[in-house]
Amino acid sequence: MDFKTQLIGAGGLSAQACDALLVVLCNEAAVAALPAALGGPLQAALKDGDFAFKPGRTLYLHRVAGLKAERVAVAAAGDGSPAALRKALASGLAHLKGGGTRQLAVAMPDLTPTAAHAEALVAAVGEAVYVYSATKPSASPAPKLAAVHLLCSKGERGALEEGLARGRAISAGVTLAREWANRPGNHCTPTHLAKAATQLAKSHGLKVEVLERRDVEKLGMGAFLCVAQGSTEPLKFIVLRWTGAAKGDAPVVLVGKGITFDTGGISLKPGGEMDEMKFDMAGAASVLGTLRAVAELKLPLNVVGLIPSCENMPAGNAVKPGDVVTSLSGQTIEILNTDAEGRLILCDALTYAERFKPAAVIDIATLTGACMVSLGQHRSGLWSNDDPLAAELLSAGSEAHDLAWRMPLDDEYGEGLKSNFADMGNIGGRYGGAIIAAKFLERYVGKLSWAHLDIAGTAWRSGKEKGGTGRPVPLLTHFLLARANAARGR
Ligand code: BES
Ligand code: MN
Ligand code: ZN
Repeated sequence: MDFKTQLIGAGGLSAQACDALLVVLCNEAAVAALPAALGGPLQAALKDGDFAFKPGRTLYLHRVAGLKAERVAVAAAGDGSPAALRKALASGLAHLKGGGTRQLAVAMPDLTPTAAHAEALVAAVGEAVYVYSATKPSASPAPKLAAVHLLCSKGERGALEEGLARGRAISAGVTLAREWANRPGNHCTPTHLAKAATQLAKSHGLKVEVLERRDVEKLGMGAFLCVAQGSTEPLKFIVLRWTGAAKGDAPVVLVGKGITFDTGGISLKPGGEMDEMKFDMAGAASVLGTLRAVAELKLPLNVVGLIPSCENMPAGNAVKPGDVVTSLSGQTIEILNTDAEGRLILCDALTYAERFKPAAVIDIATLTGACMVSLGQHRSGLWSNDDPLAAELLSAGSEAHDLAWRMPLDDEYGEGLKSNFADMGNIGGRYGGAIIAAKFLERYVGKLSWAHLDIAGTAWRSGKEKGGTGRPVPLLTHFLLARANAARGR
């Protein structure tokens, strides 16, 4: 799919040749300024109550006399903010993606589009045209949309091109993350993820290294190993590196939870909706997606992606409640619930991250159902031992329309992790489960600047729209973009 800016011609909107024209409008007052061929039917629709200036409302018109475009969709865009625009585009595009639209022109006549609007446009189109088909041959074919032309004036063009470029990279990263999250556990094993990482490295100029069980044993990742031990699928520990800055520059390390299926292990989960536990590698997928975006934008930063990946299965040789394992950090852990496995694979990856002398470490994980209970599906949970880092991530989330909410790390929350038989247990009481999980991870980051994103609620949708969202690729990419801009001295 091609995204381009295009100057509005002398003939204005009515002379715009394209299969479809999507007109985004914020105010009723703007209708008067439209060419009569479009303004007329719109006035009539308003009068008849078929259209209103309420966010989400759209109007579809086919082969309107006097308009060169064959189809027109009008979408109301509320206050004209990029976030409102994105919602308006989503409903407007719903009219256009099924039919014969190959060339789509988008006009925003009553707002001054910025780079953020351009980025929102690409995100909305990327979201609308994605079709999952890897294991569904009968899926309706992807829309034929080949190019989107963002209509603008000469003065707006430079900024909009920049926004489109950002949008393209992020949207490609989001799609990659969605795709891997959607693939079922038997089509997305640790081996498949390692192959995907290797392929990404090849196509995008990253370095990749895949550690196998024997390597992980030699290192002493006893916590990661104990989760993998009940599965016949070989574990993988994936290391991806983007070197966009000088070799000695401290990297940002992203750690993604890569449980390709979480049955709960011996502490088996209930059967209902257990299929959704194929998404338990969404953190890993977001690391792949973010690195793809970073490489496409050629960000002048060093970024390392770490993905511990395995299945969590019950088996005769699976880890049992009460077992004690020794983590890479040397701290011992009493496994009190084998379903609290995410923290076990992450803690060893966090210790491993230290060797990169990172500027910051961010782990991303579908870690707790408790996080969904507290924050729902709208915002990711954010924990950090570093206030400036937390502020950077929150603001990146706002910029990217991929919101997070900071949660506390008071020491009292970690008290339940005490164990009589090991340095700590892997669970710590009934209430505040998402915070307790973060307190567990905190014990493995030492003095590093660290943040933890619990994406259990945000990485996928349930119900009719079941599927991956690609979050938090936009947040992470914006965070890295901001760091890159700071490095460039802007
Ligand atoms: N992968 C789950 C968390 C999860 C649950 C994500 C539901 C998305 C939807 C995680 O491994 C898990 O099982 N966590 C347990 C922790 C508990 C045993 C302390 C949970 O949340 O129930
Ligand atoms: Mn679990
Ligand atoms: Zn899990």
